Amino acid sequence: MADTRSTQGFEDTATHVNVKEYYGKVLKKTVDLKTNACVTPSSPVPLHIRQALKMVHPEVSDKYYGCGLVVPESLQGCRVLDLGSGSGRDCYMLSQLVGEEGYVTGIDMTEDQLEVARTYVDYHMKEFGYKKPNVSFVQGYIEALKEAGIEDGSCDIIISNCVVNLSPDKRRVLEEAFRVLKDGGELYFSDVYSSGRLTEELKRHQVLWGECISGALWWEDLLQLARAVGFSAPRLVTAKPVTVDNSELQSILGDFRFVSATYRLFKVPAGARTPALVTYEGTVTGLEESFTLDTRYTFKVTEAVPVDGEVAEILSRSRLSDAFTVQRGAPAPPGAAAPRTDVVNPFELSQRKENAVPGPATGGCSAFAARDWPPPPPVPGHPGRHGFARSGAPVRRQNPKRSGAKRVPMHESRRPSAGMRAHSSCL
Ligand SMILES: C[S@@+](CC[C@H](N)C(=O)[O-])C[C@H]1O[C@@H](n2cnc3c(N)ncnc32)[C@H](O)[C@@H]1O
Repeated sequence: MADTRSTQGFEDTATHVNVKEYYGKVLKKTVDLKTNACVTPSSPVPLHIRQALKMVHPEVSDKYYGCGLVVPESLQGCRVLDLGSGSGRDCYMLSQLVGEEGYVTGIDMTEDQLEVARTYVDYHMKEFGYKKPNVSFVQGYIEALKEAGIEDGSCDIIISNCVVNLSPDKRRVLEEAFRVLKDGGELYFSDVYSSGRLTEELKRHQVLWGECISGALWWEDLLQLARAVGFSAPRLVTAKPVTVDNSELQSILGDFRFVSATYRLFKVPAGARTPALVTYEGTVTGLEESFTLDTRYTFKVTEAVPVDGEVAEILSRSRLSDAFTVQRGAPAPPGAAAPRTDVVNPFELSQRKENAVPGPATGGCSAFAARDWPPPPPVPGHPGRHGFARSGAPVRRQNPKRSGAKRVPMHESRRPSAGMRAHSSCL
């Protein structure tokens, strides 16, 4: 067994040791995985993200083990932290989307993964034409960000891709994420969730844990945990079923089902909140017509939409505030739908998406291309994985509030001319 104590004073549990072994020594490439916890995209990956992914060095991409596409909107100039950054694929993709003024830090506990990630910093900076690196990789634990030197309130956005399930202390991970986020900051992450609370026996299965299955949270527990830590209610972005194409592992799992889901959690003040009418300004480049916050809310440009107090807080306190007009306490327009506060079940969502005709798999974490849909049958021992993605958008946007541009009255078109758009920083 490897060392049980990290250099930073955080004590490894047996789980950490096993996971390090799995991602450091056992797995060599994406195709070595025994389950398809990573699934095919149901919607095309936007061009700018595909282009950013193409720029990533093949050795980095070959060791990609994520289960979603973690690209929130409005990234320009942001400080991003990637929990469990692995070989660094997402960091190098986001390094391009935050731009030279932004910064991406990847944290991972497994030296072998970090070594691959660090090897290609100079290569990528040269490819991106950056004068100085805007990405770095830190050895550390996602349960102990302080020990890794991540300061309170230092991050605009935290992303994570198929990692939280691997932690034996998920509450601590969320607490640490909450601590290091700025007020209004966001945790935007993809992970695997189960249909019920998993048994202790399942949690002891090392391969299933390493494969991101038996460490999965029951999705309803995520809702409780996020609230207990102080985050806004988790907002579901997308979900796809995870299948375990290995009969032996499948029989161990019994009736439990799994889903890969992307959630966004915001750090906004809790407490009394006033509902509001919000209007999307159409200022996020690439999203001029509409902006999708989650499965419940897609805001069409210039349309005033009634939202509950929490959504009003998110849209007025996060980096998204530049793109929205929020009128607290304003009456809903006649015929407008009431604010949606229902909880969306990721299993139901993933089933609805599965029943729909699949869209082309346009890259992302996919080991398969569109022509491979439906995915080929598993090869014994190497069932493979499929990519899955959610669209995001680039972040050049114009901020009429800060730029001094004339405000456009409600209900009039807010679509700015291309010339009015400017980079804005959330540093
Ligand atoms: C499934 S891989 C995902 C890697 C990366 N996000 C990607 O998409 O390729 C999980 C990664 O999380 C790291 N990891 C797991 N648990 C961790 C923990 N408690 N602290 C830090 N890193 C952890 C592992 O070392 C591994 O590199």
